Amino acid sequence: MTAMRDVCALDDIPRDGKKAFKIEGKRILLMRKADEVFALENRCAHLNLPLSPGKFDGDFIVCPFHRARFCVRTGKLDRKAFLLGRLGKECVPTFPVSVTDGRVQVGLEPVSHPAQPETPQTDQPSA
Ligand code: FES
Repeated sequence: MTAMRDVCALDDIPRDGKKAFKIEGKRILLMRKADEVFALENRCAHLNLPLSPGKFDGDFIVCPFHRARFCVRTGKLDRKAFLLGRLGKECVPTFPVSVTDGRVQVGLEPVSHPAQPETPQTDQPSA
């Protein structure tokens, strides 16, 4: 199990807002939806520019530079919203977060998420 680092009070992150931190050399963006907190690496998968100035709508963070959208739960690119072409990577690393007694802790080992199919499953004709 990854060691968790105490980062801040929950109330240090605005409700439905975000705050960037540097923790042991890693750039982490914490985003708060109600009392739930998500942690992504504060670096876009396209050109490694910071995501922190981007718009957070509760489910996605939108890169302020070329508008790639990443799911705050999985870090995965939302392809429908990014029309500029290929990214270097398909997702932004996410990190485990816990909130205990009003304090936010983050683990610095990225969470891996199962791959999702690129295209929807199609029905196979029956033999
Ligand atoms: S730097 Fe984020 S989409 Fe280009």
